[in-house]
Amino acid sequence: MKIAVYPGSFDPVTRGHIDILERTSQMFDKVVVAVVHNVTKHALFTLDERKEMIKKSTKHLDNIEVECFSGLLADYLRQKEATIIIRGLRSMVDFEYESQMSMINRQLIPQADTVFIMSDPRYIFVSSSGVKEAALLGGDVSSMVPPLVEKGLQEKIKQIKI
Ligand code: PNS
Repeated sequence: MKIAVYPGSFDPVTRGHIDILERTSQMFDKVVVAVVHNVTKHALFTLDERKEMIKKSTKHLDNIEVECFSGLLADYLRQKEATIIIRGLRSMVDFEYESQMSMINRQLIPQADTVFIMSDPRYIFVSSSGVKEAALLGGDVSSMVPPLVEKGLQEKIKQIKI
């Protein structure tokens, strides 16, 4: 059984992430989305909120699991018996950071490979941070995130403004 882990902050999940999940769910027996507690990034959504938004946005895919994790990705892969790390690529800028990360992971868990998936051209400019900034400033992000994420963003904005 080929198990892949798709790790990320997903703060929040975008249509670009969902597209990658739709494509990779056809390549592997199981894809585990690992919502990471990233100590270097201040998150807008809690881990549980991010997890729920991904779960609801991937209801149409039957081999996707969504979990939260903190710690070393290599340890998590061992725990899940996964041998593939999925990462999306939008540009050469992503590639520089991603290639370094894949090499570190290769040292930490040599039996695993990172599989890079090129972003669909529709979503090449979409990032969670861009979406958050645009939404917080009143922009329409409906083409970039699933409807329930758009709703979640509006609720967060209301809470921030109170
Ligand atoms: O969506 P992001 O924030 O670009 O995802 C980055 C992530 C979570 C994949 C990366 O920070 C990660 O793997 N964190 C887990 C800690 C770890 O294993 N670090 C060593 C590999 S560089």
